[in-house]
Amino acid sequence: MSPAPRRVVATAPGKINLSLRVGGADHRGYHALATVFQAVDLLETVEARLPEQPGSLALTIDSRVRGHVPVDSTNLALRAAELLRSETGTQHGAHLHITKQVPIAGGMGGGSADAAAALVALNHLWQTGLSPQELMLLGSRLGADVPFAVLGGTALGTGNGDQLTPAPAPATLTWLLCAPGGHLSTPEVFRVFDELAAGSPAPPPVTPQPDHEQLRALAAGDVEAIAGTLANELHHAAVRLRPDLQDLLGALRERGALAAIVSGSGPTLAALVHDDEHGHQVSQRLRADLGDLDCLVATSTPHGARIIEAA
Ligand code: C5P
Repeated sequence: MSPAPRRVVATAPGKINLSLRVGGADHRGYHALATVFQAVDLLETVEARLPEQPGSLALTIDSRVRGHVPVDSTNLALRAAELLRSETGTQHGAHLHITKQVPIAGGMGGGSADAAAALVALNHLWQTGLSPQELMLLGSRLGADVPFAVLGGTALGTGNGDQLTPAPAPATLTWLLCAPGGHLSTPEVFRVFDELAAGSPAPPPVTPQPDHEQLRALAAGDVEAIAGTLANELHHAAVRLRPDLQDLLGALRERGALAAIVSGSGPTLAALVHDDEHGHQVSQRLRADLGDLDCLVATSTPHGARIIEAA
């Protein structure tokens, strides 16, 4: 058996919701969802090292994206470490170092990816031996998107988004992801969603019907058909809070994207393109007309949170 490592590095992917259907809220205010998640190769990296002071937990962050991330005990990676410790009873500590690439509070699950990568890295560093399924279950207590960041690939999410069924999606999809600056708070977007629905009878907190047409298009690897099914029921709420998103979505479509949606609760926009070159073309046209906008091309990835180095 190889000796226990002193340093483990794990990555976890950001996500796009290819469809997001929202049902009623439960007693905690959590909404029932039916969503199709897709992981993209825009990754969060968590390095976990055994600390000099045994048992201590510390966090540092190197962010490649704009915005503020808390380094105190509210940080999801630190909460993941605390949860793994309390669940397994391990006395170990760690110094976590996160390299962020996923837009902060952007609707792409960056914080959840931090938690997922931290769980996977620490489970190995501390030799706590939990299975991926157990890590996903633990992760669901930290946030609805954490189990998917552990799993990766493409999956149907039901319940609060944490009940996952892998969805066959043989085609690699290419996305142009544009972060239009600023942040949207997920609870705030759901609150506006509820406000906009006020007056209509409250839907029950049961999982809405998933988008079967989208699941079929994904299974067939038919990119044009997939483009026709991209949909987000949080769109109106996100646009109510950020009216500029509507124009940007129009601009992405006009400049050649196959389709464009708000990613999750926004404000990141996800535009489906044919390939890398097409993505860069759309991005260049957009920038020529609209000026500075943070856009990058990413592709779908089969990987969830995984260890990339251990020593
Ligand atoms: O699970 P997560 O921490 O990502 O959720 C952030 C917030 O988004 C929740 O506190 C809740 O207000 C809202 N939310 C929701 N229904 C869900 C998932 C999240 O209302 N299924």
